[in-house]
Amino acid sequence: MESGPSTVHLLPGNGLDQDGARDLVLRFLDGDVGTDPYPVLNRIRRAGPVWVRDDLVVLSSRAHCEAALRATDTAPASTGACPVSADRLRRAADRAFSADAVTDLAPLVRRLVDDRLDSVAARGRLEAVSDLAHPLPMAVLSHLLGLPSPDAQWLHRRAMALSPALDLRLPGTGTAGPAGPAGFRQAETELEAYFAEAVERRRRAGGDDLLSRLIRGDDDGERLTDAEAASTGRFLLAAGYETTAALVSGSVLALLRAPHEIDTVRKDPGHARHVVEETLRLDPPVQVVQRRAEADLDLCGTPVARGTVMVLLLAAAHRDPALAPSPDVFAPDGASPHLAFGAGGHHCLGAPLARLIAGTVLVRFAQRVLGPRFALGSPSYRPATALRGLRALWVDADGFAGRDLPWPEAAG
Ligand code: HEM
Repeated sequence: MESGPSTVHLLPGNGLDQDGARDLVLRFLDGDVGTDPYPVLNRIRRAGPVWVRDDLVVLSSRAHCEAALRATDTAPASTGACPVSADRLRRAADRAFSADAVTDLAPLVRRLVDDRLDSVAARGRLEAVSDLAHPLPMAVLSHLLGLPSPDAQWLHRRAMALSPALDLRLPGTGTAGPAGPAGFRQAETELEAYFAEAVERRRRAGGDDLLSRLIRGDDDGERLTDAEAASTGRFLLAAGYETTAALVSGSVLALLRAPHEIDTVRKDPGHARHVVEETLRLDPPVQVVQRRAEADLDLCGTPVARGTVMVLLLAAAHRDPALAPSPDVFAPDGASPHLAFGAGGHHCLGAPLARLIAGTVLVRFAQRVLGPRFALGSPSYRPATALRGLRALWVDADGFAGRDLPWPEAAG
């Protein structure tokens, strides 16, 4: 099959040849594009498929990304893939993440959100990342997995030490190496031991949490060995914690940038879900995923040979003008076509849960945080490429309303 970087030509309407596009891709993957990667991502998308090597192509149009995600002859090529195969994982855990199971979690999530807001009310301001975005998904995931709540801070520190390893690595391209910081291996080992012990406790005591159900094979689900259940627990924490935290803080940021949307959410809580979806489109937590072609493929006219790694720039695909006339504009109007949770066979298992948590935060933020506004200048981002998330987002407020406000029907 003919493909690859050997063909260097100017691409129409962009002024970028394949070498220029490749340089931009490597800059993006190295995190060398400042806090706003989107101008660079838009330029890459306009260049069309970018061949970094004969066996490594970067796809960034909506059509290419969706075709690659939905193609059956592909497999995830990311470093953080689940040790249990996707099919078995789904058979074992699907029910725990179904729409009904997640709806049952709504009262818990509401209580947790109100608890968090109560805890900062006296301070008169909040830091959306450490006060809301991190503690909420951790509390919900701990509840699901049956982990003791006092372990949250310990787990948070290990998850943060692991996160650089979840970033994208492209061997042989000059992008950052796979080892990550020194604390990575230690955090990995500690989490392995932690989850092995958590599963052992379940084996002895039983329970209704997900780990217990995985080792019992409840609900006609797939029965996992203790070791598989332990790695699945670790994987779910890695897949669901920082991603959901990034969505929560990103959605609060979106509200602060468009304050009239706060009034709209207060009056119509159902609108929160549009803000969440538009945040997923315009500023997705997972910016990039990878696939390996397991057969020769034709992706919208682009031939991709078996064995090729495809890097899918979801964050670029979301701003494809083929989808909307002004794709760079935040417009939470209920039409936010995005691939932020993937698509096809590996579509995110935790999407309903992430949506529930972020939507609940927005409804209560709009109702309870009075006169919210940016504090201390602009927000800061963590230095990461594949997983985009805020490091801090301080919010000043005139005050905090009490938790006795009724929860509107349409919320969370
Ligand atoms: C805003 C939050 C989240 C985002 C943006 C997100 C994004 C994604 C994406 C893009 C994929 C597809 C990866 C690929 O195709 O290679 C994925 C897969 C997955 N996600 Fe999420 N995720 C989020 C939250 C969660 C949560 C809360 C959980 C569970 C606790 C979770 C569990 C999973 C699992 C298990 C998969 C793999 C599914 C498979 O391979 O069949 N995610 N997620």
